[in-house]
Amino acid sequence: MQTICHPAGDESLKQAAALLQAGQVVAFPTETVYGLGANALDEHAVRAIFAAKERPADNPLIVHVADKNQLTELCQVTETAEKLMDAFWPGPLTLLLKKKDIVPDVTTAGLDTVAVRCPNHPVALQLIRESGLPIAAPSANRSGRPSPTSAAHVYEDMQGRIPMILEGGSCRVGVESTVLDVSGDVPCVLRPGAITREMIAQIAGDCTLAPSIMRPLQAGEHAPSPGMKHRHYAPKAKMTVFTGEDEKVIEAIIARYDVSEGGWILAQTHCLPAFGSRRCLSLGDSPREGAQLLFQRLRELDEKGAAFILAQGWEAEGEALAVMNRMARASAFDIVPM
Ligand code: TXA
Ligand code: MG
Repeated sequence: MQTICHPAGDESLKQAAALLQAGQVVAFPTETVYGLGANALDEHAVRAIFAAKERPADNPLIVHVADKNQLTELCQVTETAEKLMDAFWPGPLTLLLKKKDIVPDVTTAGLDTVAVRCPNHPVALQLIRESGLPIAAPSANRSGRPSPTSAAHVYEDMQGRIPMILEGGSCRVGVESTVLDVSGDVPCVLRPGAITREMIAQIAGDCTLAPSIMRPLQAGEHAPSPGMKHRHYAPKAKMTVFTGEDEKVIEAIIARYDVSEGGWILAQTHCLPAFGSRRCLSLGDSPREGAQLLFQRLRELDEKGAAFILAQGWEAEGEALAVMNRMARASAFDIVPM
């Protein structure tokens, strides 16, 4: 199959919407990462997403809608969920809600909940409206690769596997949406994103974090979200993350770097001069910039053939929890507090 890349515009959006209506898979930009979309209600189309991504069938997809009215046929919207939608949609917040029969089991991997979100990106919204469909879309990477934050990343992973990629520049947020379980009395974050626990608590009164956000699942522990079971965001190189005061982190990274070959450093911009002529890439100067850059940097380091990566992280809290959750997974939880 030939994969065509088109800058998003009225014509290409019409073409993409027609492909979706015909049961095909189309990649498109959102504010978080690029998505690999298909008609969420068409079993056959959804299977094509799993095939293109080589995604395990037990990992359910997020269904994207243009507004909350589109949810009526898909799921049961609770009062808390509605409040959160009014506060944060369109935006990077995914809610898990009781699904209705119309949503096929392949989309939800057999679960009785469906994940729904309204993306805050004009191209994504126009595509959903133009197609008139709820769009199931995981991140548009091959399973186990970092999520794509540009059309070029999607092309690397999906070339020859899907008919069309809509180009819409680099993604503003850079990490995937917050996944929130709203089935209990207190909402619980299963995957941290740009909508933080603190922001959710302001609207819902309270909000908890799933214990496995910053540690591996223990043997026999139930995964509240199937995505937690799977290996994620893995660069080819072994990665170690250091957190704490700049001086101590810099010292530890230099010591580790200098004793072996093929290392690369991923550090905050203001610390880069301290590494002299050693091989470094910037992660920006704030958790927000780090989130925007991380997946792109991991792909760049793969290309450079990095043997190992020594990265500077942030304290895993507040706004930094999203980027640190991805760094934790990319490093197989090899995080060294200094
Ligand atoms: O920002 C995003 O959320 C991006 C863009 C494209 O919207 N999408 C995305 O999808 O990250 P994906 O498939 O890569 O991640 C979806 C996560 C997975 O960890 C999956 O296990 C979880 O959401 N999930 C989906 N449906 C679920 C459900 N019914 N119950 C629990 N977890 C669910
Ligand atoms: Mg993904």
